[in-house]
Amino acid sequence: MRIFVYPGSFDPVTNGHLDIIDRAAKLCDKLIVAVLKNRSKTPAFTMEERVSFLEQVLDGRGNVEVIPFSGLLVDFMKEHNATTVIKGLRAVSDFEYEFQMALLNKNLAPEVETLFMMTNIKYSYLSSSAVRELASYGGNIRDLVPEKIVDQIYDKLKAY
Ligand code: COA
Repeated sequence: MRIFVYPGSFDPVTNGHLDIIDRAAKLCDKLIVAVLKNRSKTPAFTMEERVSFLEQVLDGRGNVEVIPFSGLLVDFMKEHNATTVIKGLRAVSDFEYEFQMALLNKNLAPEVETLFMMTNIKYSYLSSSAVRELASYGGNIRDLVPEKIVDQIYDKLKAY
């Protein structure tokens, strides 16, 4: 069974992430969306909220599972017998950081591969922080995140 992992902080999940999830799910038997901690960022949404958003929008996708984890990605991979990390690349600016992460992870776990997918051009400008910024000022985020979670994002962020 080929198990792939798509890791991220998903603070919150966007249509750009969903595009990668749908495409990656076709390449494996099971895709685990791993909600991890990026130590250099303080999330706006709690782990529970980020997992709940993903579960709401991924409902009905048979081979996709959402699992929270606080620890190293390579440990998560081993724990779940996963072979491949999926990462999305939006622009050249993502490359350097992703390249470093992929090499670090390769050093820690040589058996794990990192596979990069080009983000759909429609979402190349999109990021979770752009969504948070827009929502906090009441800007329109309806084309950027799944409809199901739009109001929940406004409810939390408009208060700021
Ligand atoms: N569409 C839209 N946005 C996208 C995207 C896509 N296809 N792909 C990435 N992004 C955005 C994310 O939303 C995020 O936006 P933000 O910075 O505005 O919040 C940004 O691009 C970076 O995304 P990503 O590369 O997924 O990073 P992340 O911070 O979400 O997650 C971890 C990074 C969690 C995977 C990484 O820190 C990790 O593996 N942590 C675990 C600990 C570990 O193993 N560390 C490495 C040791 S060497």
